[in-house]
Amino acid sequence: MTERYAIILAAGKGTRMKSKLYKVLHPVCGKPMVEHIINRVEETAPAEIITIVGHGADKVKEQLGDRTKYALQAEQLGTGHAVLQAENFLKGKPGTTLVISGDTPLLTSETLQNLFDYHQGKNASATILTAKAEDPTGYGRIIRDHVGIVEKIVEQKDATLEEARIQEINTGTYCFDNELLFDALSKLDTDNAQGEYYLTDIIEILKSEGKNVAAYLTEDFDESLGVNDRVALAKANEIMRQRINHQHMVNGVSFIDPAATYIDDGVVIGAETVIEPGVYLKGNTVIGSDCVITTNSQIVDSTIEDGVVIKTSVVEESIVRSGADVGPYAHLRPKAEIGVNAHIGNFVEVKKATIGEGTKVGHLTYVGDATLGKDINVGCGVVFVNYDGKNKHHTTVGDHSFVGSNANLIGPVDIAANTIIAAGSTINKDVPEGAMGIARARQENKEDFAKRFPFFQE
Ligand code: UD1
Ligand code: CA
Repeated sequence: MTERYAIILAAGKGTRMKSKLYKVLHPVCGKPMVEHIINRVEETAPAEIITIVGHGADKVKEQLGDRTKYALQAEQLGTGHAVLQAENFLKGKPGTTLVISGDTPLLTSETLQNLFDYHQGKNASATILTAKAEDPTGYGRIIRDHVGIVEKIVEQKDATLEEARIQEINTGTYCFDNELLFDALSKLDTDNAQGEYYLTDIIEILKSEGKNVAAYLTEDFDESLGVNDRVALAKANEIMRQRINHQHMVNGVSFIDPAATYIDDGVVIGAETVIEPGVYLKGNTVIGSDCVITTNSQIVDSTIEDGVVIKTSVVEESIVRSGADVGPYAHLRPKAEIGVNAHIGNFVEVKKATIGEGTKVGHLTYVGDATLGKDINVGCGVVFVNYDGKNKHHTTVGDHSFVGSNANLIGPVDIAANTIIAAGSTINKDVPEGAMGIARARQENKEDFAKRFPFFQE
């Protein structure tokens, strides 16, 4: 088998995005476009991957790490000039080189594999991946002769009216004979509407040298969508979202409205889980089987085990163990760990705290920097007072304890197992096992006092 190489073009600024973020780093379903590209490229197993960086080079390198080598294109003089920057790595090596843009995130590795196979089958020196676009505006057009043989690619800005009507477009993805590619690149000029070194002109150069140029037409135009502006970015997100949700449904996940459910690439969901509209599942999130995630929940970088119900809540960097339920309107902040069958009710915030198995924190409570054991009942409005303005302090509550409503537990404090904290108490001393901690003024009733109040009516 001939050696394979890949060049990813990622040096452009992406002017049309009107963004501080470099174009290829804009996310599609949670991952930067260029990361989707490298994932697909890796699936075709090239011997070397060279990424051309320029604008935002450091950020792109940070994103892709050592999965690729890098060639710097100091000035963005066009796609042909960009590919030329890889010459130190690849020039003169026999093999096939895939060239792909960092802004076509929907291409599948299956299509790339088909392109390699077609290129090899045709024994071509270059093969263009093409597609039929309903609206080809903005793309390079594929010009074929009267028997259908590819002659050249004409950019939108250089096209005659007649050429502009052609619907077959250049996806910006190609296979080249590596040695011929670098020979031809040195012959490019900038004699065109944009004054750039166009990679697309390589086709005409190879043709003029009598080389065999092929085009492989993909069925699915959607795959070749090039993201140059935010309109296309939204479209790319929509298409990828459909693909992702489709796969989850095939795997046994139910959606009430898949078009209104937003799941990042890479999120794992078990079978029989039901997801309501408006839900976002982001980043490195894993959801178990038989869960219900109700409308407008957001779950980020979290693990939700089997049989959990998350009702309209925000969960970040947390773990919810099996059988637990959360919400409505709860907020699990980083490092919350909710135990098996535990209950977190409405308007409860949990941060950096472990809630033991079967423990209930039902209403309007803040639990921060705490370890709660099993089968505890935390009443309404309890505050774990963890911050003194400078440092955070930890509180523990032992198994089978009962924390009455509106208690303040001022950390650091250690409340042992089987204790009671009287409602309304402000606790700042440890409570030993089996005791009741009570810390509030004793009630006094003043006879006939109410009558003296203006409110009172005879
Ligand atoms: C390019 C093709 C066009 C094709 C379209 C498909 C050329 C001349 N045109 O146009 O035929 O239909 O892609 O999406 O190739 N880049 C660099 N350095 C540069 C210029 C660009 O690295 O000097 C990178 C960009 O970051 C981007 C890619 O190359 O990832 C494509 O550049 P872009 O400006 O988006 O080209 P298009 O105008 O879309
Ligand atoms: Ca583009």
